[in-house]
Amino acid sequence: VRTAVLISGRGSNLQALLDAAADASFPAEIVCVISNRPGAGGLARAEAAGVAALTLDHKAYNAREAFEDALHAALTDQGAELVCLAGFMRLLTPGFVQRWQGRMINIHPSLLPSFKGVDTHQRALDAGVKLTGASVHFVSAEMDAGPVIGQGAVPVLPGDDAAALAARVLTVEHKLYPECLRQVASGQARLVDGRVVIARGAP
Ligand code: GRF
Repeated sequence: VRTAVLISGRGSNLQALLDAAADASFPAEIVCVISNRPGAGGLARAEAAGVAALTLDHKAYNAREAFEDALHAALTDQGAELVCLAGFMRLLTPGFVQRWQGRMINIHPSLLPSFKGVDTHQRALDAGVKLTGASVHFVSAEMDAGPVIGQGAVPVLPGDDAAALAARVLTVEHKLYPECLRQVASGQARLVDGRVVIARGAP
């Protein structure tokens, strides 16, 4: 399944997806990486893996819809069938989300529905939770609110600061995202009537 990855930054989750997809038996092929930020670290990771690396600078468009039309055109040009958001820091309009419904997934560094949005680790610390983690979900119009495909948890330990907690969660993200992409690309996990249905039996 031809898969595009959208990034804004360093791309460590992108790297985890590229590494998983390097295995011929993996059901998704990463065909392009698109960054909305020029010079994002993840672009070099894509190039190193021999994957098309494109920049679509949102600042070059005067309206959100114009940026998204260009994004949609680039995805269509590349023949993308699935889209993974991996540290992509732009909100997407309901219209764009609709066009990719059931075919676009995101990773978020919290156990959703807790701590949607930014600064998740500091907010988890402030709330005093003892477990946090990461979630992969289908993208819906409301930010970080789409149906959850998979989650991984880590403990919050005494003395943690946001950076220490982020690093612990990140190790889980790097396992979780490839596993969830595998499930979606293989058809094992599907969005049906706004819910995730996981097929039973062999993956
Ligand atoms: C990850 O923590 C991801 O969950 C969040 O942004 C971060 C991106 O990191 N949405 P990277 O660019 O994948 O290294």
